[in-house]
Amino acid sequence: MGFDFTKILKREHSHKWAAMTKKGVQPDQIVPFTVADYDFEMLDVIKDALHKAVEEMPMGYTYGSPSYYDSIVNFIKRHHDYDIKRHDILESTGVVASIDEMIKVFTKENDEILVFTPVYTPFMKTIEKNDRVCIEAVLHYDKQYSIDFNELENLLQTHSIKMVLLCSPHNPVGRVWTKDELTQLSTLFLKYDVLIVSDEIHGQIIMKPHKQIMMASLSKEIEEKTITLISPTKTFNLAGLHVSSILVTGDLKRQIINYRKKTSFGGLNVLARVACEAAFTHGDDYIEKFNALIKENHLLLKNFIEQNIPEIKVIDLEGTYLQWLDFSEFGLPEDELKDILEDKHSLFFNQGKVYGVKEGVFFRWNLAYPTSYIKEGLLRLQEWNVSRETK
Ligand SMILES: Cc1ncc(COP(=O)(O)O)c(C=O)c1O
Repeated sequence: MGFDFTKILKREHSHKWAAMTKKGVQPDQIVPFTVADYDFEMLDVIKDALHKAVEEMPMGYTYGSPSYYDSIVNFIKRHHDYDIKRHDILESTGVVASIDEMIKVFTKENDEILVFTPVYTPFMKTIEKNDRVCIEAVLHYDKQYSIDFNELENLLQTHSIKMVLLCSPHNPVGRVWTKDELTQLSTLFLKYDVLIVSDEIHGQIIMKPHKQIMMASLSKEIEEKTITLISPTKTFNLAGLHVSSILVTGDLKRQIINYRKKTSFGGLNVLARVACEAAFTHGDDYIEKFNALIKENHLLLKNFIEQNIPEIKVIDLEGTYLQWLDFSEFGLPEDELKDILEDKHSLFFNQGKVYGVKEGVFFRWNLAYPTSYIKEGLLRLQEWNVSRETK
C-alpha cells in the first residue's frame, strides 16, 4: 500500500500552526516543527472504517466490542511479543489523562513521584498539579542519554518514592530503553517498592535496529507492579480522537475500577474505538513506511548539520519522531536564540527548558513532515548560522 508522505493537509485550529501564523509566517512557506502531531492524510483503512461507522452504526451508548479489544491484544502481541488479556485493558481518553488518574488512584498529597529528566513536560506538571512532589533523576548525557543507576539507587534510598513515570521510548531525548536497562530499572523499582507507570505512547515509532520492549512484558512479577499506557494516537496521528488504553492486571486494576466508580468517566467515543481498531488491525505496513520516513529525515538532518553546522550536536534518534538537538556550543541564551530563529528565520522548535533541562541549550524538532520541509528547515538553520558568523 502506498502512502503519500510528500504532502500535508491544510490545518486549522491547531495551537502550533496558530503560534506560527500569528508571527506572520505563511503556512505554505514552512511548517511548525513543534508539537508532536502531524499533518499527513489519514490512512485509507482508518478513513474507510470511520465512513462505514458513520453510515451504519447507531451512535448511542456503546461499550468496546470484542473485535476492538482483540485488535489491541493482537497488536501488542505482534509488535512487542507481550500477551495481554482483553479484560486487562481499560479505556482512557488519553495518556496524560491516565497519568493524572494513576497519580490520583495510587498516591496521596505530598507523595514523591520519580521522573527522568529531561522529559515530556506534562509528566512534571501533572505531578505538581496534584500536589505531589516531583523527584528528578537527571539522565546522564554524553553524546547520548543514559540512566545513572548509582544516582537512581541513591535517590531511592534517600527518598520515599511511591511511583515512577517512565517514558518509554523517551520523549524528548529519543532513547529506546534496552532490555538490560529495563531489567536494571525494574530490579530497583521492585526492591524499593515503587509502582511503575510506563508511558509507551511512542512504542511503535522505533528506528531499526532498536526494538521496543514493554516493561510489563519482562516478567509476571514486574507486570504486577506496572501500569502500561498505550495509544494509537502518536503513530497514526489520531490525538484529536482521544483514544488510549491502560494495560493493567490484578489488584492494581481493581483499584482503578473502584476509583472510577466515583467518577463520571463513561468510556470512549464510538468513533475513537473504530479508528483505533482499524489502525491496530491494518496499520502495520504504514508503521514500517512511516518509520522509514522518520529515519530518512533524521539521517538527512544529521548529515547536513554535521557538514554545515557542526557546533550543533545531533542526538541519535532511536525512537519517537522527535529530534533532540544540542545548541549549547554557541553560548547563546535559549530564549534569545528561540526569538531569533522564529522572528528572523521562521523556524519554530520546542525549547529544551520546558522539558526540565538544567544545563545547556536544547531544541526539539518534530521530524514527522515531508522531507522537503526538513530540507527547507535546514537551509534556514544554515542561513541563521551564516548570519551569526558574519556579524
Ligand atoms: C510521552 C508522551 N505521553 C503522552 C503524550 C500525550 O498523550 P495524550 O494526547 O494521549 O494525552 C505525548 C504527546 O506528545 C507524549 O509525547
